[in-house]
Amino acid sequence: MRILGIETSCDETAAAVVEETGDTGRPWRILSNVVASQVEIHREWGGVVPELSARQHVRDICGVVERALRDAGVDHGGYGAIAVTQGPGLVGSLLVGVSFAKSLAWTARVPLVAVHHLAGHIESLVLQNGEMPLPAVVLVVSGGHTSLYRVPARGSYELVGRTRDDAAGEAYDKVAKLLGLGYPGGPIVDRLAADGDDRAIPFPRTRLTHVDRNAPHLPGTRDFSFSGLKTSVLRYVTQRREALGVGEDAPLPPGETADIAASFQRVVVETLLDRLFEAARAFGALSVGIAGGVSANSRLRADVAARAARSELPVFIPGLALSTDNAAMIAAAGLRRYRAGVTADWSLNAEASLAL
Ligand code: KG4
Ligand code: ZN
Repeated sequence: MRILGIETSCDETAAAVVEETGDTGRPWRILSNVVASQVEIHREWGGVVPELSARQHVRDICGVVERALRDAGVDHGGYGAIAVTQGPGLVGSLLVGVSFAKSLAWTARVPLVAVHHLAGHIESLVLQNGEMPLPAVVLVVSGGHTSLYRVPARGSYELVGRTRDDAAGEAYDKVAKLLGLGYPGGPIVDRLAADGDDRAIPFPRTRLTHVDRNAPHLPGTRDFSFSGLKTSVLRYVTQRREALGVGEDAPLPPGETADIAASFQRVVVETLLDRLFEAARAFGALSVGIAGGVSANSRLRADVAARAARSELPVFIPGLALSTDNAAMIAAAGLRRYRAGVTADWSLNAEASLAL
């Protein structure tokens, strides 16, 4: 069977067609994967503006879906179901995808499958590499999320840790902004870090050891926190600007900026990987995975490969096209759910804080 996937949770309008292969080890194949990014629209504002995002999705959705079908060589009779991101995300943006998918499923007389955005990111690992040995522990790390999941069985995801404040990608974006480097910050900081000394500045590592009083259902000791690190970078940069006698928004010398980027990146990557491998050990995982926009980070990729070799756990990472938001991963997670017998009815609504 083929499924049409639709994703509009944040600042990319995406559609894809994914097909079942019949091979249980590598269950899905991508026939098309179209992403219209809004990054140029939001760059001017230094971050995603929800209202602009929703309006742009409305403009782009028809063209993106048509293009995905054309690339896959299928027409409206050529897919057996439609999968759409129900949440979490920006509610106005989600609504565009959900409403479009409902109308199209109604018209094409095919079942509708509601997908959690992070289930999509987790299944991007399988779409790219084939089934993971289970149980697995997967870190989803993006601009909006930093969450650790235990995957005990196919299609089952248990949240075992998450950030209590900023997501890791958000920290990258904020640090880039305060260094005057542009948006989105992750790729820029990643590039600059390559020329810096990652031990130049001893930025602090946050290690939460107490239960989160706001979410008592989780033990909380596998949580992340990145806002303290961001504040510490801000303080350091402010001090350096004062010492150099330059203005509040003035760029620091390139060598210093590279050292800050490298030192910041070391703390982020080590924190993420320490927690991931700790969780993998605690849960007796047979594999680990990293998904989401920040999984594109060059140091994260290099360090996780080194650690995986040492701990002899296979590591799953999506290719670059599947690491940032896309609809192929939503289609894959949709097929997983559809095969488990779960479909949505016409009352389906977008949910900004949908839980997994
Ligand atoms: O998954 P994604 O496309 O969208 C969200 O769901 O948030 O992730 C985007 C995030 C941004 O914060 C961006 O700065 C970060 O991923 N990112 C990176 C890199 N490439 C993208 N962070 C660090 N290093 C990178 N190379
Ligand atoms: Zn995402």
